[in-house]
Amino acid sequence: MAKPRIIVTRRLPDPVERRLTKHFDTVFNRDDVALTQKALRHALSDSDGVAPTVSDRIDAEVLGVEPLRARLLANFGVGFNHIDIEAARTRGMAVTNTPGVLTDATADLAMTLMLMAARRAGEGERHLRAGDWTGWRPTHMMGHQVTGKTLGIIGFGRIGQAVARRAREGFGMTALYYTPSPVSGAAADGTEACGSVEALLARADFVSLHCPGGGATRHLIDSDHLAAMKPGAILVNTARGDVVDEAALAEALATGRIAGAGLDFYEAEPNVHPDLLDQENVVLLPHLGSATEETRTAMGMKMVENALAFFAGKTPPDRVV
Ligand code: DGY
Repeated sequence: MAKPRIIVTRRLPDPVERRLTKHFDTVFNRDDVALTQKALRHALSDSDGVAPTVSDRIDAEVLGVEPLRARLLANFGVGFNHIDIEAARTRGMAVTNTPGVLTDATADLAMTLMLMAARRAGEGERHLRAGDWTGWRPTHMMGHQVTGKTLGIIGFGRIGQAVARRAREGFGMTALYYTPSPVSGAAADGTEACGSVEALLARADFVSLHCPGGGATRHLIDSDHLAAMKPGAILVNTARGDVVDEAALAEALATGRIAGAGLDFYEAEPNVHPDLLDQENVVLLPHLGSATEETRTAMGMKMVENALAFFAGKTPPDRVV
């Protein structure tokens, strides 16, 4: 029997590509450049399944392609707000994702950003590399302590909970969270629920975002919510770019309304708001949350498991629709 044909939109870790090749008639994107909307439409017409990533915008127009041959979108990644899920459902397609395996890597990166922003690590490194460091002095580059402070977590799923554990157990922080959905006792142990985003912002020295992107959370952190943060607070975003109004954030940083920010996501990736690029008090990382060899390989293997189950006529373990 012919192997199902899968088009993979970006380069994947070698062990994942080898496994895909073993089970599928696989077409790889050797140039590793984001596919155009036209190329995505062609991929859907020319394969049994497409393996996209967060850098592919699979909207209703792309999914409206005729003829549609693909029956599966096996997403490499947990977030799927780049895919129009309703349009996929209407076209009778299955969509899968890769939850669970990137929790620790992403939580580690949230802590990295929190520490870097608070301790002015990026700024300090730029200062040193530029040859501007004249030696130790008591008032040089004083930042903010992380240990013992209060962390507010918005969105309290797997990653938010993993950040809370690190903050409490590693840094003796008080952890607060806000989420619209109920959280079971064990998951929330040692962490205090806030009744609203505003209640959390009023108390947190650090605010870390872990809610899904798209629709309801677009610009959740806008100028009003930035104004509601404690003066001197620090914002960290390892969730999705559209959760933060970047122009409002740039202004809050420029005026010193908040002390700093650490970002791994942007509204129009890979473009970053120009007013952020100029400021020293924001740490800017290029969407590295899950970027460890272990995690990216585990994400790929999960993606393969989903595709194998789907083409064997079973329900994929991580089926979204
Ligand atoms: C995801 O899986 O959604 C991430 O953004 C990729 O790191």
